[in-house]
Formats: sequence, C-alpha cells, structure tokens
Amino acid sequence: MQTRTIEWRDGTVLTIDQSKLPWETVTLEMKSCGDVAEAIKTMKIRGAPLLGAAAAFALALTASHSKRKSKEELIYELEKAAEILKSTRPTGVNLFWAADRILAKARNFSGSAEDLAAFVVEEAKKIADEDVAANRMIGKFGAELIIDGDVVLTHCNAGALATVEYGTALGVIRAAWEQGKKISVIATETRPKLQGARLTTYELKRDGIPVTLITDNMVGYVMYKRMASKVIVGADRIVQDAVINKIGTFTIAVLAKEHDIPFYVAAPKSTFDLAHKSSDVIIEERKPEEVTHIGSLRIAAEGVNALNPAFDITPLDYVTAIICESGILYKKDFDKFK
Ligand code: MRU
Repeated sequence: MQTRTIEWRDGTVLTIDQSKLPWETVTLEMKSCGDVAEAIKTMKIRGAPLLGAAAAFALALTASHSKRKSKEELIYELEKAAEILKSTRPTGVNLFWAADRILAKARNFSGSAEDLAAFVVEEAKKIADEDVAANRMIGKFGAELIIDGDVVLTHCNAGALATVEYGTALGVIRAAWEQGKKISVIATETRPKLQGARLTTYELKRDGIPVTLITDNMVGYVMYKRMASKVIVGADRIVQDAVINKIGTFTIAVLAKEHDIPFYVAAPKSTFDLAHKSSDVIIEERKPEEVTHIGSLRIAAEGVNALNPAFDITPLDYVTAIICESGILYKKDFDKFK
C-alpha cells in the first residue's frame, strides 16, 4: 500500500493523480523525467513541497535509466532533465531547490557514473524523507499556537497531498487534533482548480477532522461574524518581503488583519528563497479556460477574456508568524530576511 504521496519503488515513481480526486483514487506510475514533467504541468502532482520531491525523483529516474558511458555524460543528462523540470511551473521554489541541490552534489561527486546514478537515487529519497521530518516538526511547533475551540481557516491544499506526507498547514491542524485539541477547520474552495474543495476537505474528512467548506468570497462574512479564530496557509515561496501562495491568499491576509485574526504561514525551509524579493518572482499565469469553465462546462459567454494568475503576493506585514521546522518566526525575525 502507498502511504506517502510520492514514492520510489523499483526504478519507478508512484504518486496519486490529484486531478482525479476526490472522485477516483488512481495511482500514477512514472518511469521517466518526461512522465514527471507532464504530471506536474497537468497538475496531477501539485503543491510546492511535493513538486520538490517529484523533481528529485525525476532526476533519480533519469540517472537510474541512463545509458551513460561516463560521469560527465550523466551530469549533462541530469542538467538537461533539470531544465525540462524547471520549465514546468515557475513559482513554487521547492522544485528549483531540489533540482539544484542534486545537480550541485552530482557535479562534486567523485566516483563512477554507476556510483553517481545510485547516489542520485539515494539523494532523492533523502529529500523526500527530509520533507516528512520537516512537516512533523512544523506540526509540533505549530500545534502550540492552537487552543481548544479554535476554528482554523485554511486556503488551497497544504496537506499530505501537497507534500510527501502529513502536510504543512494541515500538518499543524493534524498535530493539534492528534493532541486531542477540540478544533475545526474552514476550507475555502480555491477557485479555479478547487484544491480546497476537492483535496483539503477530502484529507480532513478521511482523518475525521471536522471541516466546513466555503466559497472563496465568503471569507469576509466568516471573519466579520467571528466564525474563524485563526488562519493557517502554506507557501509556494517565501522571499525577503513576502509570502507567495495560492491566488486568494492575499485577500484572506488583508481580511484577517482587518479583523485582528492571526495569519500564520506553515512552510519548510526548502520553501524559503531569501536571495530574492517578490518583484523577482514569476507568477504563473495559467490558461483562461480554467476560469471561464468549471471542468468542461463553460460558465462565461463565449469569447470572454479571463485572467488566471495561479499565485499572489502577501507582504510580510500581513503575516503574524511563519512556522517552519526550526520553530516559529515572528516579525522581529522577518527583519533578518533582507
Ligand atoms: O497550484 P498548486 O495546487 O500547486 O498550489 C499549491 C499551493 O498554493 C499550496 O498552498 C502551497 O504549495 C503550499 S503546499 C504545502
């Protein structure tokens, strides 16, 4: 049985096709870097930390199926594979971080091509294991912020499905729940790809954690009525001045500030990109049909233009704290980001 969202098994990579959830649970078997790149582009695999692990395993597939004659040829093949992976989705940093980590270690590797191939597979497994360990620590630290009676609002899916296992924002919620805290969750549906409605509610329901689904435009009402006591979201990239996360996150952060509701971000250090600021980051623009249609059903008049940025930028001023595997970072710590 597959317990992790992504796994290396006998020279193939197994994952769950998230585009089919919650209707069907379909295991996707990927045998090449091209298979992984395609799964990322079509969002069968999504969520920043999972994309990091997927990129690492894609390089492991390249290495283990390579017909390399020399170490230099294998490194060249890995560089080409990393280029393909980096062209899939531009915003989440974990994919770039994982690919660059493996490439840097491969370039410094002393040994045969065969040894290097085995090393790359082990390094990819290590990246996946580290993600699980980071999420557990995020859960442990973050749960300290949660008290009995809290209603936690979350956006998109920052759960086990967005990571190798356990989750970041949902990891905090899970840890608090496992400690016996009486909490519940409000999940926003997250138009246009509906990760909140399709994935977050699915995960929480499976774990028996009470969850209520709302549409994205209900957040103001919910906060005004004091129906949510805290917000916890994940992140796709944390830069010197901002948190970049699923489109709609900034709106929620502004509303939380207006209503004095703590706004927490949970993310592993592999999501931190402190060499850059928000103006350096490419915000992924996806096809307009995701907005003009719901699934295959057109909901706008034919020919209507639509905007479809997949992420937005929340200045750190709106963030109460960032929970990572080393602990909880508060405003005074954000000053050290620059
Ligand atoms: O477009 P997606 O589904 O890949 O976007 C995912 C998110 O924005 C998540 O909130 C983020 O990756 C954090 S996941 C732990």
